[in-house]
Amino acid sequence: MSSAGAKTGPGVKAPAPLKLPLAGARGTGFLGARLGNLAVPKKAEAVCRASHDRGLSATVQSALTTEAPSNTVSATRDGKGTKVMIIGGDGYCGWATALHLSARGYSVCILDNLCRREFDMQLGLETLTPIASVHDRVKRWGEVSAQNIHLEIGDLCDWDFFSDAFRNFAPDAVVHFGEQRSAPYSMIDRQRAVFTQHNNVIGTINVLFAIKEFKPDCHLVKLGTMGEYGTPNIDIEEGYLTVTHNGRTDTLPYPKQAGSFYHLSKVHDSHNILFAARAWKIAATDLNQGIVYGVRTEETMADPLLINRYDYDGIFGTALNRFVVQAAVGHPITVYGKGGQTRGFLDIRDTVRCIQIAIDNPAAKGEMRVFNQFTEQFSVRDIADLVKRLGAPMGLNAEIIQIPNPRVEAEEHYYNAKHAKLEELGLQPHLLGDSMIDSLLEFAIRYKDRVRMELIKPAVDWRKTPVTSGTAKAAVKAD
Ligand SMILES: NC(=O)c1ccc[n+]([C@@H]2O[C@H](COP(=O)([O-])OP(=O)(O)OC[C@H]3O[C@@H](n4cnc5c(N)ncnc54)[C@H](O)[C@@H]3O)[C@@H](O)[C@H]2O)c1
Repeated sequence: MSSAGAKTGPGVKAPAPLKLPLAGARGTGFLGARLGNLAVPKKAEAVCRASHDRGLSATVQSALTTEAPSNTVSATRDGKGTKVMIIGGDGYCGWATALHLSARGYSVCILDNLCRREFDMQLGLETLTPIASVHDRVKRWGEVSAQNIHLEIGDLCDWDFFSDAFRNFAPDAVVHFGEQRSAPYSMIDRQRAVFTQHNNVIGTINVLFAIKEFKPDCHLVKLGTMGEYGTPNIDIEEGYLTVTHNGRTDTLPYPKQAGSFYHLSKVHDSHNILFAARAWKIAATDLNQGIVYGVRTEETMADPLLINRYDYDGIFGTALNRFVVQAAVGHPITVYGKGGQTRGFLDIRDTVRCIQIAIDNPAAKGEMRVFNQFTEQFSVRDIADLVKRLGAPMGLNAEIIQIPNPRVEAEEHYYNAKHAKLEELGLQPHLLGDSMIDSLLEFAIRYKDRVRMELIKPAVDWRKTPVTSGTAKAAVKAD
């Protein structure tokens, strides 16, 4: 997959692979091989890297050269050394989860090809919070916690690389976060739609084959999304629906009405996992996650080098993150359309706990269990109002405006999604009203000088997705 000239799928050109300058990295030619002519030329890549490094705040730059960590974390043994491979462990949910589990006595391996960082370099985006390199993060975690995280840099879609890494680590559980996770990104242009489905669907198939071949008892914990269901005019159940039709009754996978090529990749994953669970007796948990918010977990706050990413741009930033940053910098809060779009949300501290609960209470062999992983549901308008109300005592005077909706979605609809199963297994939710100030507004205000105003507006229009490459104009809309 990562070799030059490899044919990787329908319509995916395979020019010379993009090599990232990572010591010991294997299988890193992912974008060069699979994003066709979108690969960043070497010279541009070097410029991107240099400006990215310059963009790191003084805090991180000084932390990088400081010997002593600023805090320590005492590890517990709750996880009893259970071996957990975290695919996508350098990303937003994966990094917080890796540290959460490592601090609790699970033996953790992060596998990531760093493509999320590459997307930022290609599109000129940047996280609000200054994040350190994955190597520096893992090193500092070892110093802070005395726990070792094993690191594998490479592409899940590269079977040679992945099967080696999987066999070497021999995980008891795999947590699969390692996908292209932005709906707008998948709608930028044809190549990114193809890339998203190829990356996500083939990656998941590789995980299924690895479990079947090398560790049939390994429990798959796979991140899906609540967006797979769409917005049906009936209650959303947790994965399955019991239907009576022409006098006969069956329990079937809940109908999916996904709203982007990204969300559809997750639907395809769910079907592939269900099939593999039945055919090969794999134990799988599909977590249909809501929109995650917040930056703060106990472990990622233990040292500046461990801080998590915070995306606020129109491509990777979710509505809540964008609204909070808009309020912090005095930009109007931009609600897409009527703002009646209702979704499930959860705090990042609940994401990490849900993953731990799923690992500790595995699915049965041959079962694909589905949990809806969110704690509260809000409309976009509710969220905007909450940001305005809670920002006011902090000196923020936010105005709420409506802008044309770049997405194709219902703006007023029924929404009632069940989410009982994780709470039955012990999840104690953090609520948005309590987390808004310390986990969101406080960060947005602290880092507001890093905000790039031109990235706030939506730039990807669902109705226009072109067949020509949209790289240069993807992130920033021309007026
Ligand atoms: N963040 C949310 O609000 C949210 C909501 C619902 C579902 N999810 C799902 O949770 C998962 C994690 O989301 P996130 O926000 O942490 O995303 P993220 O982009 O921050 O992290 C994903 C990580 O996976 C890595 N990755 C992607 N493709 C890979 C490949 N082929 N090989 C190796 N590594 C690869 C990326 O480099 C990145 O570090 C995703 O599957 C996403 O769809 C996230």
